[in-house]
Amino acid sequence: MQPSDKALVPFVSVDNMMRLIHHIGVERMITEIAAQIEDDFKRWESFDKTPRIPAHSPHGVIELMPTSDGEAYGFKYVNGHPKNTSEGLQTVTAFGLLADVYTGYPTLLTEMTMLTALRTAATSALVGKYLAPKNASTMAMIGNGAQSEFQCLAFKAMCGIDTVRLYDIDPAATAKCAANLQGTGLNVVSCRSAEEAIEGAQIITTCTADKKYATILTDNMVGPGVHINAIGGDCPGKTELHRDILLRSDIFVEYPEQTRIEGEIQALDPDHPVTEMWQVITGQAEGRRDERQITLFDSVGFAIEDFSALRYVKHAIEGTEFFEPLDMLADPDDPRDLFGMLMRAK
Ligand SMILES: NC(=O)c1ccc[n+]([C@@H]2O[C@H](COP(=O)([O-])OP(=O)(O)OC[C@H]3O[C@@H](n4cnc5c(N)ncnc54)[C@H](O)[C@@H]3O)[C@@H](O)[C@H]2O)c1
Repeated sequence: MQPSDKALVPFVSVDNMMRLIHHIGVERMITEIAAQIEDDFKRWESFDKTPRIPAHSPHGVIELMPTSDGEAYGFKYVNGHPKNTSEGLQTVTAFGLLADVYTGYPTLLTEMTMLTALRTAATSALVGKYLAPKNASTMAMIGNGAQSEFQCLAFKAMCGIDTVRLYDIDPAATAKCAANLQGTGLNVVSCRSAEEAIEGAQIITTCTADKKYATILTDNMVGPGVHINAIGGDCPGKTELHRDILLRSDIFVEYPEQTRIEGEIQALDPDHPVTEMWQVITGQAEGRRDERQITLFDSVGFAIEDFSALRYVKHAIEGTEFFEPLDMLADPDDPRDLFGMLMRAK
């Protein structure tokens, strides 16, 4: 039985997502997703917002991240399993869905493992554009796993970084990252310690994965004027920075209700002042004030960023071959005759 048009939902497989990314170009796609995120942060108040819904286990976490602007609804399924790489699996995998609020019908189903890397990098560099010191040219990239190259390219494309200094506890990860960044136009320096990596860096990105309170940066490592882009602390009991760094920094977050549960600031009092990025982007709050200020983006990843990325992809695949129609919705001729549809299919 042939499905009707109404039954079909555009589906973007990993293969098609990779073809789409190559068609557009990695840096351009990150920059364009960042522009979409920026637009959506500007209309922050029009979104339904809730901290993501986690299912924790000793092995990792599985999370659902829903939001809606009243016209479209989106969610992402994402996991975080730091032990996975030792078993040949990814730490983070994801897929996501957009739906039409008026009918409730899904309008897009897509892989989001690749897309999450792009949107995370896009968000980081967007925030960097507002908070990083002017004329920043060097970024320390600590944690050289799946997200790392995307972060480096985003800061190159959007914040003018020309040098990255890489460090990972696993030298093989650093070697992989350095090899992948060859020919991108970035000067790549492989380092043997986090201390070496941060030398001369105006931006420090921490993007490590460990299911514990880790101390990737200690207080003495962070000098005045730097911008810290802390990606990897994104779960209760999983952080990267020494508490004293937080106390010396001005802290910027996506959605405080979620960040206080998952971010670096879980180590602080529940009323410790933080600034919401949407307010900086709309000019309602101050970003970087002066050259000596330490700015910290306590990134955990918020549903609106995924919503922006989903809408970007929905638009980008229109009229292209980068998707396949998936027979996903039962569509009986008589909407109430679902059983009849089943029987006719015998
Ligand atoms: N904030 C967000 O929006 C967001 C989005 C996606 C992923 N993440 C988080 O970012 C982190 C990185 O994700 P990934 O997919 O690149 O993970 P990954 O497992 O591929 O890479 C993590 C790397 O960190 C390294 N590492 C672990 N401990 C370290 C330490 N003490 N010092 C230096 N390096 C160390 C590991 O060797 C590994 O190479 C994860 O914690 C993930 O949950 C955050």
